[in-house]
Amino acid sequence: MSDFDIAAYIGDVPDFPKPGVTFKDITPLLSDPEAFGRAVDALVASAPEDIDVVCGMEARGFIVGAPVALALGARFVPVRKSGKLPRDTVETTYDLEYGTQTLAVHTDAISQGDRVLIVDDVLATGGTVAATADLIHRLGGSLVAVSVLMELAFLEPRDLLLRRDIDQVTALV
Ligand code: PRP
Repeated sequence: MSDFDIAAYIGDVPDFPKPGVTFKDITPLLSDPEAFGRAVDALVASAPEDIDVVCGMEARGFIVGAPVALALGARFVPVRKSGKLPRDTVETTYDLEYGTQTLAVHTDAISQGDRVLIVDDVLATGGTVAATADLIHRLGGSLVAVSVLMELAFLEPRDLLLRRDIDQVTALV
């Protein structure tokens, strides 16, 4: 991995989706199969042993989370925006870097004692990860780690996550 600079494959788009917000665009990474494969391999390598479930959050968390789940031999569980999942769900509402959001997961997607890994593209304020952790805990799962492609450290997401006792966090960049 030493010669692989994943940041070179993630673009900055200023003032999107709102003025003052710089959007992190992972589509250059996705369009390069070798680079995307190396990023997935690195996320897989960061995972603890014996993961039962990988949770990926809509929408970009699906893209990076699903291949990680397959590689780990774990179940992939989509954490979706409200109103998208067809069966019984648990939901939580939280503040995002821009606005608020409600996330939902099927109640039967995670079982008591499941070891869960959260995978997403970008860790910004940490609100999405914290909300997903809440859903996992409410279903009896154990959140054992969080792995993301990129952390926006200036937003200090780890402060929020530490307050929720989430300390196993890996960011590739
Ligand atoms: C982005 C990103 C993360 C989240 C990070 O998702 O994919 O899930 O924001 O922000 P946070 O750490 O401040 O919570 P977004 O809600 O923009 O949805 P998208 O994946 O559908 O674009």
